[in-house]
Amino acid sequence: MAEAKKLYIKTYGCQMNVYDSERMAEAMGGAGYVETQSPDDADMILLNTCHIREKAAEKVYSELGRFRGLKEARPDLKIGVAGCVAQAEGEEIMRRQPMVDLVVGPQSYHRLPELEAKARAGTKALDTDFPLEDKFDALKNRPKAKRGPTAFLTVQEGCDKFCAFCVVPYTRGAEVSRPATRVLDEARDLVERGVREITLLGQNVNAYHGEGPDGKDWSLARLIWALNDIDGLERIRFTTSHPNDMDDDLIAAHGECEKLMPYLHLPVQSGSDRILKRMNRSHTAESYLRLIERIRAARPDILMSGDFIVGFPEETEADFQATLDLIEEVQYGYAFSFKYSPRPGTPAAERSMVDEAEASERLQRLQALITRQQRAVQDSMVGRRVKVLFEKPGRLPGQMVGKSDYLHAVHVAESDAQPGELSEVEIIESGANSLAGRPVQGLS
Ligand code: SAH
Ligand code: SF4
Ligand code: F3S
Repeated sequence: MAEAKKLYIKTYGCQMNVYDSERMAEAMGGAGYVETQSPDDADMILLNTCHIREKAAEKVYSELGRFRGLKEARPDLKIGVAGCVAQAEGEEIMRRQPMVDLVVGPQSYHRLPELEAKARAGTKALDTDFPLEDKFDALKNRPKAKRGPTAFLTVQEGCDKFCAFCVVPYTRGAEVSRPATRVLDEARDLVERGVREITLLGQNVNAYHGEGPDGKDWSLARLIWALNDIDGLERIRFTTSHPNDMDDDLIAAHGECEKLMPYLHLPVQSGSDRILKRMNRSHTAESYLRLIERIRAARPDILMSGDFIVGFPEETEADFQATLDLIEEVQYGYAFSFKYSPRPGTPAAERSMVDEAEASERLQRLQALITRQQRAVQDSMVGRRVKVLFEKPGRLPGQMVGKSDYLHAVHVAESDAQPGELSEVEIIESGANSLAGRPVQGLS
């Protein structure tokens, strides 16, 4: 048997890219590749890229520069660019970086083995199609290897919302939901391989409407209830949601579905209605706040998380203040915030920018507020008993780390817990980025 070739994949961007990288490794597994953790001994390097902000996209070019030496030393090494930058700028990458052998978009990566063969035969290969066939279904040769306790599972792809700042509808294409049967099969397979917690993924995951086994359209809530029945699966999460797609059933599921975790990432982007309108978000600050009220009525202890863009074109100090007011009202447990980055081809990129220094200063103020809130929510866990799904040993000898239901990282000293074990822990301390706990057994 020929010796396996080695594939090094580096992943940028969102969780959907993490999922896609696993699928790409599987596709290449069928072509005789095994994954390696280092580019130095790789026969093929694949960068799975993100186009969401300028900084993210630029990383591709600097990273490629770092591989130049390797490529010169070993001309046989094949270099590929995948993901959202590949989709948006594939031809430009080929032009600017002659060392790139292949480019593949996020919807056509099941064709990677053919592209690799073409590249190996000496012809550069580019595929940024949006093919009709199902890329997930095309990857049937999944290895039965054991998995860690947590996994991502993409159920919905693409976006039809066209927020004025965002590249996703262009790089990922139109919204498509996978049939529920396929999702359930994949979930059962993951559980058989050791997975205890599944995070359902989609750019607008709560807009999911895949065909159910009964031939009818299933909502995300319906899908979650079906996953709830899988023995051995302990936890269900989903991300990312859009405020306009939180239907009553999904809100109710947060109160009633035992395995659905009390954590919800619900980006709002801004607290100013004027800016939300210019962003084409089709919700208001008020409708978002009322929605959170309803979610908290169903599940009072839910931990809310969000995304914010500061310095969107024409954002005034008053608009920004409205965002701070909204944050004060919600009390987030986590939040991700970004300075607006103009993206080629999006409507907002044509508009006049907020002064750079002003935008940076606003980002700092917003992040200070968010950090205080995150810390307060985390500190409020001290003294409480939470369930922790243990994932791996920690940095200190005997230490185990995992995540609470609320997605806080928790570490326990001198633990005999095994990865995949779900047990009750009492929180004893709140640190900068994690909580310390001790096992509940033996406590009086
Ligand atoms: N589908 C999700 C998020 C997609 S992108 C949603 O609708 O919320 C993840 C986050 O990146 C967004 O929520 C937004 O806060 C941020 N983002 C997207 N485009 C951006 C841009 N051009 N500049 C700065 N931040 C951006
Ligand atoms: Fe981008 Fe808006 Fe779609 Fe989210 S909903 S992926 S921010 S266009
Ligand atoms: Fe980035 Fe594409 Fe995800 S642009 S955030 S990798 S969908």
